Amino acid sequence: MKPGSNDQPDVRLRGVVKRFGRFEAVAGVDLDVARGQFVTLLGPSGCGKTTTLRIIGGFEQADDGEVVVAGEPVGRDETTRHTRMVFQSYALFPHMTVARNVAFGLRMDGLARPEIASRVEAMLGTLGLADQAGKYPRQLSGGQQQRVALARALVTRPRVLLLDEPLGALDLKMRKRMQTELKALQRDVGITFIYVTHDQEEAMNLSDVIVVMEKGRVAQVGTPEEIYRHPVSAYVADFVGETNLLPAHVVASTPSGLRVSTAIGEFTVRADAAAAGSAIMVAVRPEAILIGPSIPAGCARGRGVVRSRSFLGSLTRLALEAGGTTLTVDSPGLSAVGAGDTIDFGWRDADALALPGSQP
Ligand SMILES: Nc1ncnc2c1ncn2[C@@H]1O[C@H](COP(=O)(O)OP(=O)(O)OP(=O)(O)O)[C@@H](O)[C@H]1O
Ligand SMILES: [Mg+2]
Repeated sequence: MKPGSNDQPDVRLRGVVKRFGRFEAVAGVDLDVARGQFVTLLGPSGCGKTTTLRIIGGFEQADDGEVVVAGEPVGRDETTRHTRMVFQSYALFPHMTVARNVAFGLRMDGLARPEIASRVEAMLGTLGLADQAGKYPRQLSGGQQQRVALARALVTRPRVLLLDEPLGALDLKMRKRMQTELKALQRDVGITFIYVTHDQEEAMNLSDVIVVMEKGRVAQVGTPEEIYRHPVSAYVADFVGETNLLPAHVVASTPSGLRVSTAIGEFTVRADAAAAGSAIMVAVRPEAILIGPSIPAGCARGRGVVRSRSFLGSLTRLALEAGGTTLTVDSPGLSAVGAGDTIDFGWRDADALALPGSQP
């Protein structure tokens, strides 16, 4: 395939391995990122997100496997001209004004002065920095510095932008605002974004595709909805969104699903046949647990004691103790149930997932 054709991914990883001494920080990663997508590498600290991103950018050399960006292999210790990276620390030049920071990459590329001036001006406008052009980084807020770092990377019009926890240093409110701006910006400029975060809410909010990583490997790739609704393992279910995980044993495979035994009783979950006696995890989202008299017939059922209750505006969250475990239950609106109450709960068979894995 020729570079730039539409049927090839912008970024392609095959069997990528990176070792530090005997430790495999990246342990065989395959990944295809399509052109113009917002893809997020999501996972807990130390799972290999930054290392993977640095390999794509050419800052780090893979020990094994293949890395191709825009149809060209990423070589040894050289950053590719197709990618730019935005670091968590912003890494702005302190002795240069905002305008000169943003112009830096274009000067390096040897563009003509009028071209540099017009591109810098347009980019500062896009990011709401037009009136900050003459300031130095130390005179800017964290959010403004972050925008300058983005402008500096975007102005060179890379094919792929690599972003490593770029909002990590901002407070929650500013982070939310920048998330919205970043998503809109990505749509406007049409550049492929590969974004790293350990914040699952941020990943859900921003991404076309989420790559959940676990110990240097890809645990699952999918849209936010696919990952949330159809996690492939207890690890993914636990990491993305709130979930209740119950260790279970298969009692029998029946035509309507798996009959399982758990600390809170025996019930059926929709799943393919599995050997009796095998250990699985059952995952039920807090919003799938129904309480009170409105539980339809045919649901898995139990009885528990409310240990705590918090009103969160659009829902009430309960900690419900049953069979020695505590379930998180999200009930819409203001629930009349209070701490100390004994209540019935249940969920539809289809709302419980049988997953491989153990208690994360
Ligand atoms: N230069 C290095 N030398 C030795 N070990 C390293 C080096 N860089 C990373 N590691 C190790 O590789 C693993 C993966 O690191 P990486 O920075 O990719 O994690 P991460 O997913 O980005 O984590 P975080 O969310 O904390 O940034 C970690 O255990 C880390 O300690
Ligand atoms: Mg990192």
